[in-house]
Amino acid sequence: MKYSKYSTVIIGSGAAGLYLALCAARNKNLKDGILVVTKSALNECNSRLAQGGIVSVMPEINKNDNVTSHVMDTIKAGCGLNDFNVARFISENSSFVIEDLISLGVEFDRNKDGNLAFTLEAAHSMPRILHAGGDSTGKVIEDKLAELVRKSDSIEVYEGTIAVELLCDNGKVCRGVLIYNPNTDSYEAIYSNAVVLATGGVGQVYEYTTNPDVATADGVALAYLAGAEMSDMEFVQFHPTALKTPVGAKNMPLISEAVRGEGAKLLNINKEPFMHKYHQKAELAPRDVVARAIFHEMERTNSKNVFLDISPIGLERFKKRFPSITSICTECGIELEKNLIPVSPAAHYFMGGVKVNLNMETSIENLYAIGEVSRTGLHGANRLASNSLLECVVCAHKLAEILAHRNLDAPKSFDGNVKSILELYDADILNDIIETGILRRMLKKAMWENAGIVRSEAGLSNALRVLDDIQLITRNSRVYASKEGYELRNSLITAKLIAEAALNRKNSIGAHFREDVSEVLPRIESRIAEVSRI
Ligand code: FAD
Ligand code: SIN
Repeated sequence: MKYSKYSTVIIGSGAAGLYLALCAARNKNLKDGILVVTKSALNECNSRLAQGGIVSVMPEINKNDNVTSHVMDTIKAGCGLNDFNVARFISENSSFVIEDLISLGVEFDRNKDGNLAFTLEAAHSMPRILHAGGDSTGKVIEDKLAELVRKSDSIEVYEGTIAVELLCDNGKVCRGVLIYNPNTDSYEAIYSNAVVLATGGVGQVYEYTTNPDVATADGVALAYLAGAEMSDMEFVQFHPTALKTPVGAKNMPLISEAVRGEGAKLLNINKEPFMHKYHQKAELAPRDVVARAIFHEMERTNSKNVFLDISPIGLERFKKRFPSITSICTECGIELEKNLIPVSPAAHYFMGGVKVNLNMETSIENLYAIGEVSRTGLHGANRLASNSLLECVVCAHKLAEILAHRNLDAPKSFDGNVKSILELYDADILNDIIETGILRRMLKKAMWENAGIVRSEAGLSNALRVLDDIQLITRNSRVYASKEGYELRNSLITAKLIAEAALNRKNSIGAHFREDVSEVLPRIESRIAEVSRI
């Protein structure tokens, strides 16, 4: 098998992975260079789809804002399950990192006077969200980072290459990663003493999602298989307003929360407003509250969607402020002149994941995680809008600092086993090739119907039964020796972890809602009092 070695190997090329690569490349003492491995094209990721924006706490130019207010909003949305120190760290570093992005050439939208334009999103107590290209924030950031990464002499990129196994030696120290290139049907062992998971989210574990095809939960599964600690696995965020396309596409385009931030109202199928019945902040309630309200309203009226009424914004202003959403709606045959956009909830973001500390270290030495795959503790039971891109870049920047102080000479080899290949060649039934597509559809349907917005013991047990069946079918087959096969394995492992954690949490809080238990945990006021004492 081919092998190579690098000072740092980054798995994933979203905002977290690319920004880390650029920050780490500022260290001129790296002997063995930086490798970014990504399983599709460089810019194929959740980050590119981000619309609403990125939080930036800049009291010097956004006069009424401050860290306390942002941390308070983050903890209220997260129902107090957040790690207070992490929330403060990320908020305090936001303006510094945003200025670094601007210095790299990321152009955020500005007002006519040339000052940065801040917008409002649900559950923020004031406008503090920067956006770019109107509603193409993620694309603007991702395109700039990708352009710089391609130009860098210190960063090598492998596109179309999937990481399939972490190489951990017998003392449980990570020494690299095994990658698979489906085009050449070949494996390569990459040795490195700094392996970073930046593999993004898990949306594709669900039937309906805003996430692209690459979001198959790979990083969570790789870390789990290597024995890393996981946390908060029951907390999956469902975005309230994904576009219900006339063709019923399962990867659903997002209709940003900023649309409600700018004044749009939710109406049920009978064109009646309903959010005031569910929360005092109505359309601007925390995301989990709005998603469940829509879910209940759809059930009550036996409908498949509700509507966003954009008339309070005005069509011309809407088109100007949300050019991408306007194009998406037009492409999908939505007549915006009627002012009503059909929407319904979809799996959007994963608050749980690979547990890391504030140095982005997982429980396995030399293995780090940043971005959506990591569980830093910032989000608690429910993420506040636009905190995710911020977490990606602040944590990437911090990790680059940590790595700059380490000896990153690459190992020459490792003393463990490459499990996946050995298992593969040991298996008896190598030719029993299974159609992974059918199994993935079974998995996604079972998760959507039983481990989604509203959960119960019976439903979760049912999901686990289906997942066990899929595992049984795949166990004795050659199913994993393909990109789709590895993705199925990874989704299966993560889906089981989500369903098990949801079964074990016998109360409702934030994004985790159990209809069969009476205990609803409060949004923990004592934690909020702690924040106000900063
Ligand atoms: P990603 O950007 O998803 O990148 C993951 C990368 O890892 C991809 O390149 C993928 O191909 C690669 N990868 C995965 N597995 C493997 C593997 N096994 N081997 C090799 N490569 C692999 N957040 C905000 O803060 N503001 C917003 O406005 C916002 N809007 C959003 C809109 C949409 C439609 C979506 C889906 C999300 C939005 N979010 C938003 C959330 C935010 O975009 C993501 O949480 C964030 O971009 C995640 O970045 P990341 O770098 O961790 O992962
Ligand atoms: C959105 O624009 O509504 C998404 C924002 C986010 O996920 O943070």
